[in-house]
Amino acid sequence: MRIVVLVGLPGSGKSTYVEKLGVPAISSDAVRGLLADDPTDQSIHARVFRVMRYLLRQRLEIGRPVTYVDATHLTPRERAPYLRLGHLYGCPVEAVYFDVPLEVCRERNRGRLRVVPEEALERMAHKMKPPTLKEGFSRITVIA
Ligand SMILES: Nc1ncnc2c1ncn2[C@@H]1O[C@H](COP(=O)(O)OP(=O)(O)O)[C@@H](O)[C@H]1O
Ligand SMILES: [Mg+2]
Repeated sequence: MRIVVLVGLPGSGKSTYVEKLGVPAISSDAVRGLLADDPTDQSIHARVFRVMRYLLRQRLEIGRPVTYVDATHLTPRERAPYLRLGHLYGCPVEAVYFDVPLEVCRERNRGRLRVVPEEALERMAHKMKPPTLKEGFSRITVIA
């Protein structure tokens, strides 16, 4: 089994990537949609990530070979829970980092149905800490 944690700003292409690969993914937007009937509801953040971890654990317990986790995952702190779960279930945890310039994300964001506020995007770009092997990832793939 393996866990693949996506890391990237809104508009960096995470959801498009998993869709193109056709791989199973747990997406924070999808969980927001399930819980709050609104994929943009940011008021239930902690609950959304608890549910995502719960779903991932269930998949690991029934032995699903791979699970992608689709959310921005900007900081080591946000990524650490998946590394803990990987340790607990004895499976490697990989990261896919979408190294896409803020300007490109901004442009793609503008063309989207569900637009993230520009200030939020900027704030997130400042917060972004690219994933490192030191965090415990077995492999890091960079998508530029
Ligand atoms: N490699 C790419 N090249 C050009 N446009 C892309 C690429 N990947 C995604 N997009 C477009 O950018 C927008 C945001 O992509 P999306 O996958 O939803 O990003 P994220 O899930 O990271 O927020 C979409 O309109 C998508 O069609
Ligand atoms: Mg997405």
